Amino acid sequence: MTITQVPSAPLVAVVGATGMQGGSVVKALAESDKPYRIRGFTRNATKPASEALKKQGVEVVEISLVLDNVKEVYRAFIGANVAFLVTNFWEHIDMEKEVSEGKMLIDAAKAAGVERIVWSGLVSPTKISGGKLTHVYHFHGKSLVSEYGYASGVPFVNVQAGFYASNFLANPSMLAKQSDGTFAIAWNVKPTTVVPLIDCANDYGLYVRHVLELAVFPDGSEVYTTSEDITLQDMVRQLSEVTGKDVVFKQLTDEEFGKNFSALGLPPPVVTEMVEGFQFFDEYGYYGGQPSASREGLARPTRTWTEFAKLADWSKAFV
Ligand SMILES: NC(=O)c1ccc[n+]([C@@H]2O[C@H](COP(=O)([O-])OP(=O)(O)OC[C@H]3O[C@@H](n4cnc5c(N)ncnc54)[C@H](OP(=O)(O)O)[C@@H]3O)[C@@H](O)[C@H]2O)c1
Ligand SMILES: *[C@@H]1O[C@H](CO)[C@@H](O)[C@H](O)[C@H]1NC(C)=O
Ligand SMILES: *[C@@H]1O[C@H](CO)[C@@H](O)[C@H](O)[C@H]1NC(C)=O
Repeated sequence: MTITQVPSAPLVAVVGATGMQGGSVVKALAESDKPYRIRGFTRNATKPASEALKKQGVEVVEISLVLDNVKEVYRAFIGANVAFLVTNFWEHIDMEKEVSEGKMLIDAAKAAGVERIVWSGLVSPTKISGGKLTHVYHFHGKSLVSEYGYASGVPFVNVQAGFYASNFLANPSMLAKQSDGTFAIAWNVKPTTVVPLIDCANDYGLYVRHVLELAVFPDGSEVYTTSEDITLQDMVRQLSEVTGKDVVFKQLTDEEFGKNFSALGLPPPVVTEMVEGFQFFDEYGYYGGQPSASREGLARPTRTWTEFAKLADWSKAFV
């Protein structure tokens, strides 16, 4: 149940190893009874998250995975059998940059002879809404990278991340104190909207491990991850039960929701992106109507929202 250095074990190169998704992939592979060598990328090999990876036996490689460093990026994948790729839109809020960096990672993995790529994409609201919701850049850009990956010729699986349960822990736009003292999840969606909620750090990697350990790598497939599919009205009820706080769900209009986001100081394009993102969520579903993946066959059960809520530190959320 550890990461190995044995050369016969497949070498998995993990982008974002110090972050939520990549970190979850490392965790899930480290738990496996199958041996893996793991190479994790970070821009800072001495920060605490990197030191923790080294202690686990991860080969930590310091690199910034940007176009300016393209030669270094190509070198970084040499020797890898598998690549886990993710981009961080919120680092720069620039779809073109996310798309070009995502394509670069695929090109670099391919050039290094990587045999299997697992990529963290999302669906395209632009496509699914028939051109109505065209501003959800953090989704659409990832779908363009997915198309590029499917056409790359390298066996490619798109393991999409659900809505993080942790989004509610520290984000004032997700859980707001109201004038009557109650806390609200206030979104422009119906209370019956189903959220494919994922405890990303704990569960996302389980799905990646699952596809890597299938008898046949499911080239060309998409995996819609979830820890638990749950409606917003059930979420607030369970959150109240666990925390003892009075939490309600409030359905806002698009305008009200946009105003709330503007009030947080977010630039207008990001406000539009969020309003349309949640409109998409409401009308088509987070995964555009695709059912979430089955949890059967995963190496361990995923965490329910109630379990997540019991374990989480809510001190920064209920303020
Ligand atoms: N929040 C949600 O509900 C949700 C749901 C689905 C998808 N997503 C997507 O998840 C993505 C972010 O993934 P995450 O949550 O795992 O991110 P995260 O926890 O914020 O971590 C970001 C990771 O990316 C690495 N990174 C960023 N820029 C880099 C660069 N230039 N070179 C090398 N490494 C770099 C960071 O490494 P260092 O800092 O150590 O260098 C870190 O490991 C976003 O694109 C977002 O759209 C989010
Ligand atoms: C890297 O992390 C270490 C430890 O946290 C910190 O002291 C250092 O300033 C960081 N380096 C950069 C370039 O940010
Ligand atoms: C957003 O606005 C509504 C009313 O328009 C309010 O009830 C709610 O608490 C606000 N939420 C946030 C996150 O500010």
